[in-house]
Amino acid sequence: MTETDIPAADSIDFGFRTVPVAEKATLVRGVFDSVANRYDLMNDLMSGGLHRFWKAALIADLAPRAGERLIDVAGGTGDIAFRAQAWAKGGLEALVIDANAEMTAVGRDRALDKGIAGVSWVAGDAERLPLPDGVADAVTISFGLRNVTDRLAALRDMRRVLKPGGRFFCLEFSHLASPALQALYDRYSFAVIPKLGKLTTGEAGPYQYLVESIRKFPRQPDLAALMEQAGFEQVSWRDMTHGVVALHRGWRL
Ligand SMILES: C[S@@+](CC[C@H](N)C(=O)[O-])C[C@H]1O[C@@H](n2cnc3c(N)ncnc32)[C@H](O)[C@@H]1O
Repeated sequence: MTETDIPAADSIDFGFRTVPVAEKATLVRGVFDSVANRYDLMNDLMSGGLHRFWKAALIADLAPRAGERLIDVAGGTGDIAFRAQAWAKGGLEALVIDANAEMTAVGRDRALDKGIAGVSWVAGDAERLPLPDGVADAVTISFGLRNVTDRLAALRDMRRVLKPGGRFFCLEFSHLASPALQALYDRYSFAVIPKLGKLTTGEAGPYQYLVESIRKFPRQPDLAALMEQAGFEQVSWRDMTHGVVALHRGWRL
């Protein structure tokens, strides 16, 4: 399997491997089970702290207001919900939905440690959100969509739970415009990140999956097209750090 191979209809990529569609969610759960306790530390180490800047940029564009309801899908250990709540000076109703109880358990502890109120935690799959239609002013997904099995289904469901006029943001690793920079970034990612993961969490596998899954994720215009297919309108994106990360946005109108 190479980066460019397209899996058969009943199989799907899990990093550079091809696996049966029905197995991907279990494999992804295994990844986050094994790294949950060191997830936040590893984010700082891998990105040199840049993930804080990318997440702050998402929150500035989202500009959440007191009284709004935000749903952060695949919200993990709570970074986006906490930052959004801080921006709205505690007046937000923030709901973190995540498939992995290990990740949200870390998040709940962090909320207690930091004294953050107004964040609720729900177990659920991005493809089938356990919520009625039209309940959210804003929906975010940060470094989550890459892990989802059926991304179109997830995008459709995230749009479904938005109120008309609601906004959607997707922060995700992406692709660099410059081939020279992409080559440098690839060398760093494949040579350093799995080893760093092994040192920090005791396991290289989840971080090998991370760097491979980033390469398999749709390029910026392709993700924008998928969002449009899911029904989002006025879809746009902006690159950060030369395209290491892209912030896509769209509206339910
Ligand atoms: C890389 S972490 C991102 C966590 C957090 N959003 C952040 O930006 O730090 C990916 C998260 O997606 C969750 N996840 C993976 N597949 C999912 C799915 N199908 N539905 C909901 N959550 C999922 C994982 O459990 C994990 O917490």
